[in-house]
Amino acid sequence: MLDAENLDSFEIEIELLLEGIFRKYRSDFRGYSRASIYRRINHALSVMKVEGVSQLLGKILTDPVAYDTLLQYITIPTSEMFRDPEYFEAIRQNVVSHLKTYPSFKVWIAGCSTGEELYSLAILFYEEGLFERARFYATDINPVSLKKAEEGFFPLDQVSKYTQNYQKAGGKSSFSNYYQAGYGLAKFSPFLRENVVFADHSLATDSVFAEVEFVSCRNVLIYFNRPLQDRAFQLFYDSLGTRGFLGLGSKETTSFSNVKNKFDEVTSLTRLYRKRSLA
Ligand SMILES: C[S@@+](CC[C@H](N)C(=O)[O-])C[C@H]1O[C@@H](n2cnc3c(N)ncnc32)[C@H](O)[C@@H]1O
Repeated sequence: MLDAENLDSFEIEIELLLEGIFRKYRSDFRGYSRASIYRRINHALSVMKVEGVSQLLGKILTDPVAYDTLLQYITIPTSEMFRDPEYFEAIRQNVVSHLKTYPSFKVWIAGCSTGEELYSLAILFYEEGLFERARFYATDINPVSLKKAEEGFFPLDQVSKYTQNYQKAGGKSSFSNYYQAGYGLAKFSPFLRENVVFADHSLATDSVFAEVEFVSCRNVLIYFNRPLQDRAFQLFYDSLGTRGFLGLGSKETTSFSNVKNKFDEVTSLTRLYRKRSLA
């Protein structure tokens, strides 16, 4: 918890901004790590050509379009196909055989951004013969990112990087089988979206919406403070069915969290976990 008496003016203005956003738009960034928030807001101030944080607060309180713009800076909508390929390889090696024992299963991609993590998992499960049994929930708090995820376009200049990642991730065919190209853009094949629900869901304020067998949440919790991370971890735990899997990737861990004794570690570097059976 921040001690308000020790904050300088910039920090106090940031607290007021986050409180204002919460009161006006119900989006809760109050539990985000301050180092990241300070960087993001400073960047937004210069791009949006606003003089200071108090002016920014005044602007977004009266102008929802300005708030939408600010959201693009606060939420960090970056992703790529088969990002950190070893994570997907680890899923092939450690999760797929278990999911094969289910007649159907649900996968939740929490903080899916513009959809690359979802499309990567959809391709992986397709190649493992599991696609028909899978239902994917791709959630995020940024409506612009969710719309992009649903449309499934990506820049053609990313193809070579994505193809390399796909191969490193253990891809079994050719990445070019999964998109159509034209006019500087590529679009993922529509079949990859068939079993997907895209939805607005916040790890900071929303609750369990389905029982799932696999949660993938990467590069999201790094922006949260400890209590907010604990909230998200509890949400994942409560959403997972018996012996469900949690994938965090290399940047996050359950080690310092409230759920550290509730999951078994399946892989250490790529951070795949499995919910422990109740004793
Ligand atoms: C850096 S991106 C990570 C995208 C993807 N998971 C990946 O690793 O490539 C972080 C995403 O988390 C989302 N996010 C931030 N706060 C969130 C929250 N409270 N609930 C759900 N998603 C959130 C952001 O909108 C953004 O799309």
